[in-house]
Parts: sequence; structure tokens; C-alpha cells
Amino acid sequence: MNNDIERVLYSQDDIKAACKRLAAEIATDYAGKKPLFIGVLKGVIFFMTDLMRELDMLTDMDFIDVSSYHGGTASTGEITLVHDVGTDIRGRDVILVEDILDSGRTLAYLQDRLMDRQPSSLKVCALLDKPEGRVVEAKADYVGFNVPNEFLVGYGLDYDEYYRNLPYVGVLKPDVYAK
Ligand code: PRP
Ligand code: MN
Ligand code: MG
Repeated sequence: MNNDIERVLYSQDDIKAACKRLAAEIATDYAGKKPLFIGVLKGVIFFMTDLMRELDMLTDMDFIDVSSYHGGTASTGEITLVHDVGTDIRGRDVILVEDILDSGRTLAYLQDRLMDRQPSSLKVCALLDKPEGRVVEAKADYVGFNVPNEFLVGYGLDYDEYYRNLPYVGVLKPDVYAK
């Protein structure tokens, strides 16, 4: 699996440092509150658990599952809600957590859907932001890293559902997806 990686973009240490920095920002902004973290499956799983363990505050978590990439390296533009949250978010301070913000379609879709339920506030935390990928307007309030316009895998990000379990974020060798 490691052989398929052209280069490591963010090491485990880089990611840990980013989680600590983002958690510190969130802890300051949400002092005295009990924010609800909503992770967007499946890509977010590692970031969600690492980020939340850096927070010394009362929080709860839920997950929502949407899919926009159906194989391949490019988004189809179609968003499907696979599994909704079980928590009533009305009046809650919600932090939506994503592994990566790319075309912005997933986030735009989720923000619309969640805002209809009248949370007290809704902010977005993304480990990675790829501004060059944007097709619709979307913005994260907390960003770990701005990333170049390359196909990334690892730390939750997949290619055709594989490579999520790499402990770092890397660039996939083009010949892997050219096959
Ligand atoms: C990926 C990624 C983000 C979304 C970002 O998820 O994890 O959730 O795409 O892309 P966008 O800004 O272009 O919408 P994906 O839909 O592939 O599902 P997954 O998390 O299960 O891999
Ligand atoms: Mn995802
Ligand atoms: Mg995916």
C-alpha cells in the first residue's frame, strides 16, 4: 500500500499538531458551551477521533453519512444522504467536521440541510481545504491545511474505498488510478 504513494504531504506528527491547534481554537471559541460535533462519514473518522481527544471540554458527537464520489478521482456532483444524525440539533452549537473540502458540494448540501433544523450555531472544521477544487461556494471556519490540487489519500481519504487506513496524508501515484 505504501508503495502506491508518491510522496507524504502531511505526516502523523503534522496531523497531530494540526489537531492540537484546531482544538485550542475551538476550546477558546466555545468556552462555556457544549458543542455537538457532527462528523461526515466515512472520510472523517480518524480526524474526528483525534480532534475530539485533544479537547478538554464537554462535547458530544454524532455522524452523518453522505456520498458524492462514486469511485474514480472526480466528483459526480450527485450527493446521496446515506445515514442521518440521530441527535436533535435545534438550539445546539454544531461543529460540522470534514476530512476535506473540495468542490464544496457536500458541505453546501449539509449546511442547507442542517440549517433548516435551526441549530443555535453551525460552524465547519475541515482538516484539509482544496480551494482550487471549488465548484460551489463553501467555506470552513477552522482549517488544518490548505492543500494543492492533487489526488490525496490516507488518514480517512480513499481512492475507490482503499487507502483510508494510511496514517498520513499522501499523494497517490498517478499510475495507480490510470490503471
Ligand atoms: C469526500 C470527502 C468529503 C467530500 C469532499 O467524501 O470525505 O466528505 O468528498 O468533496 P466535495 O467538497 O467535492 O463535496 P466522499 O463523498 O468521497 O465519501 P467518503 O467520505 O465516504 O469517502
Ligand atoms: Mn467524506
Ligand atoms: Mg470518498
